[in-house]
Amino acid sequence: MKKIMLIFGTRPEAIKMCPLVLELKTRKNMKTRLLVTGQHREMLWQVLDAFSLVPDYNLDIMQDKQSLFDVGIRILTKIKPILEAEKPDLILVHGDTSTSFYAGLAAFYCGIPVGHVEAGLRTYNPYSPYPEEFNRQAIGSFAEFHFAPTDEAKSNLLQEKKNPDRIFVTGNTVIDALKTTVKKEYHHPLLEGDMPRILVTMHRRENIGKPMENAFRAVLKLMDRIDQLQIIYPIHKNPVVREIAQRIFKNHPRIHLIEPLDVLNFHNFMARVDLILTDSGGIQEEAPSLGKPVLVLRDTTERPEGIAAGTLKLVGTDEKNVYEESLHLLTDKDAYETMSKAVNPYGDGFACKRIADLLEKYF
Ligand code: UD1
Ligand code: UDP
Repeated sequence: MKKIMLIFGTRPEAIKMCPLVLELKTRKNMKTRLLVTGQHREMLWQVLDAFSLVPDYNLDIMQDKQSLFDVGIRILTKIKPILEAEKPDLILVHGDTSTSFYAGLAAFYCGIPVGHVEAGLRTYNPYSPYPEEFNRQAIGSFAEFHFAPTDEAKSNLLQEKKNPDRIFVTGNTVIDALKTTVKKEYHHPLLEGDMPRILVTMHRRENIGKPMENAFRAVLKLMDRIDQLQIIYPIHKNPVVREIAQRIFKNHPRIHLIEPLDVLNFHNFMARVDLILTDSGGIQEEAPSLGKPVLVLRDTTERPEGIAAGTLKLVGTDEKNVYEESLHLLTDKDAYETMSKAVNPYGDGFACKRIADLLEKYF
């Protein structure tokens, strides 16, 4: 019986790894262990609860306004004795967070093979997204197995001379999650009535400060321009982001600043609003399969498939640009329709099964 330890700590990793935990738990010849670092707290538990999962270990490292140093030091210190005691045959980490990098590094130091889920995404700009681009490249350098979501991600890994026998295109596990969350029948008071609606999220480290303020001002300007426009903005728990959002949006009656939605509600909101403005990575993968136009509040993306598919457009954070691009989409029916075609560049919703099959075969 082989032991696999899945490790994650933030909301986006949890959304993409919980379906994999559940899939691996159905396999008789593998024992799973779930370790969460607790890099996030409320936002992590929202996801664990939605998937009814209870971790075997919680490092509970989160601190208010934590720095990259705080997160790294606390993970490395707390994870070592657990890895030494549990001795998993393999650990699985996801994507590009501090949790994934430091947990992967700790396993590497302990001589435990690392499988990287959502491997091969690249901008090749270490400052965008920062520090995630570094994290994912670093994990790629010590990972034994690379589970790439798309052919494009695979070709990045091949170019970097990773072992081709250890790169597998599986699709993105976020599509597996979406299959279970989006409902035909769904109601919420904020979605009542036939008004135009924009769903906003913004939290990236490199956007905090001026870029975020500019994007928010563009939204304010839109409110003056379009009668009845409603903004739904579930604000990230990051206190710095909250302060900026509250300062700029104040108590605008049509801007709904709400707590982070749990994933079931959020996916159903995504499926029902008119437009999404975000700097999130995961949302860029979910939106194409829901046929929802997304204006990406960043200058780079490691998700070129959604751009190629036509659902995503990079608009950066310049106030004028964000305003004009949003206005264009909300007022030009043809432009809107062109961006609202549902396509599926990120897989068919069977990524977890593929990863589990591959691991079974390997063991
Ligand atoms: C991290 C990831 C980023 C991911 C984002 C998802 C890294 C380097 N970055 O961002 O890739 O997109 O998470 O949201 O790992 N907080 C709470 N409660 C929570 C969660 C966060 O209070 O449930 C607060 C904490 O005070 C924390 C702050 O939010 O200081 C930021 O969280 P952190 O995980 O440090 O965020 P990022 O590194 O910006
Ligand atoms: N999400 C959520 N509730 C919210 C906002 C986002 O469940 O209020 C989900 C969203 O569907 C996506 C993930 O969280 O799956 C994205 O997380 P985040 O934007 O925090 O991180 P990123 O994807 O940028 O790393």
